[in-house]
Amino acid sequence: MPILVANWKMHGTPRDLEPWLAPLRSTDTVRSVACPPFPLLSLAAQELADGTDSTDGTGTQVQLGAQDCHSKPSGAYTGAVSPSLLKEMGCAWVILGHSERRRDYGETPPQIAAKARAARAVGLGAIVCLGESKETRDRLSTSGGEQAVCRHLSDELETLVSGLEVAPEGLEAATGGLMVAYEPIWAIGSGQAATPATAGAILSALRERANSMGLRAEFLYGGSVAPDNAADFLKAGADGLLVGGVSLQPDKLTATLEAMARA
Ligand code: PGA
Repeated sequence: MPILVANWKMHGTPRDLEPWLAPLRSTDTVRSVACPPFPLLSLAAQELADGTDSTDGTGTQVQLGAQDCHSKPSGAYTGAVSPSLLKEMGCAWVILGHSERRRDYGETPPQIAAKARAARAVGLGAIVCLGESKETRDRLSTSGGEQAVCRHLSDELETLVSGLEVAPEGLEAATGGLMVAYEPIWAIGSGQAATPATAGAILSALRERANSMGLRAEFLYGGSVAPDNAADFLKAGADGLLVGGVSLQPDKLTATLEAMARA
């Protein structure tokens, strides 16, 4: 069953919870993770607990995710949120290393790996994002073609995986799951999604590198996903989609979920 991760970013108020969660709760063919801003997490958990499925009893369970966490379990870190608190509030997942956090807070791959390690240690799954800027894509592909972009991103994945500091045989034993989301920075919120062929090539390179390190993960595509391209990304090899703008528009979200179900 494909997966849809809904990244609400810094959008939403309590009154948006019901309409934005409803499409996710109504599908029985797509697994989903809703990722609201921190202050909405406990209300969302309550809303989801009020019925784990749609009114006709057919929906799949929607899991809850946060959009970031700290790498330490607790302490004097003003404004930060610990993975264990997220877990206790009902989260199953946390998005880490989104390009907006790398851009605005200077997060680096080693820091992102440390957060993922901390999350997984408390049983929180990590949704780790990576993707190239337009400048990097142009520079690398001019000298080495698409292969060079694939290698660049696979190397970053390797840094992230090494930073998890878990021996390959221990990766499955670590409690939280892992998703890797390829999100080209130029495609996020731009209406210019990657082509399914590009996304497919990058995802397959990432999958291959992960396999060579004994890592089990699910691989997602994100960046201007819409009802008319969602199925193509799944057909190109994505296990699921990370969706921003469309997750805030119930009609488009429903259409995207329907397209995923038909893929
Ligand atoms: P978008 O955002 O779907 O609005 O492009 C995706 C993301 O940033 O996760």
